[in-house]
Amino acid sequence: MIQLNDKSFDVFIQEKEILKEISDLANRINTDYKGQEVTFIAILNGAFMFAADLLKSITIPCEISFVKVSSYHGTVSTGRVDELIGLNTDLENKHVIILEDIVDTGITIDKIITLLGSESLKSVKVCTLLYKPASFLGKKAPDYVGFSIPNAFVVGYGLDYDEKGRNFREIYQLKED
Ligand code: IMP
Ligand code: MG
Repeated sequence: MIQLNDKSFDVFIQEKEILKEISDLANRINTDYKGQEVTFIAILNGAFMFAADLLKSITIPCEISFVKVSSYHGTVSTGRVDELIGLNTDLENKHVIILEDIVDTGITIDKIITLLGSESLKSVKVCTLLYKPASFLGKKAPDYVGFSIPNAFVVGYGLDYDEKGRNFREIYQLKED
């Protein structure tokens, strides 16, 4: 069990299981994109550990760029505006795979796909370590899923609770009290 601020968490997925699943995901991508080149777009902060471990098992030619979705207040009439920061590569006519730590409602992924300018890409797919199908409301369901999990809050392996817990090698689930 671990304690982060006011909450307790129990181990939910062991490191060994996580790494095995990630290597299986990488093999599927290597097979599906054989003879082609892929540009990975990893979404910060949560996907940093997943992206690092996945890329170690990718054998096809690839590039990776780490981006962050940032929200700022535009004019009063438009309200909140989202932008993608850190994109340092031209994606036109590229096969893009978005790497996420977790897809919950799917709203973030839909926003990212729009911000990437998906019309100019050769293809776009979503690869996520974790997926909560019960809360999904989005347009684009993830194409590659490590673990489909129930609707409970998880931390570790890049995922945070109030920015804490990203450093753990295992994934933990909020303890019900
Ligand atoms: P969505 O837009 O609802 O799919 O939310 C996705 C984002 O919410 C993820 O990138 C995470 O940052 C965060 N998130 C959703 N569920 C969890 C969770 O169980 N633990 C930690 N972060 C989560
Ligand atoms: Mg995230």
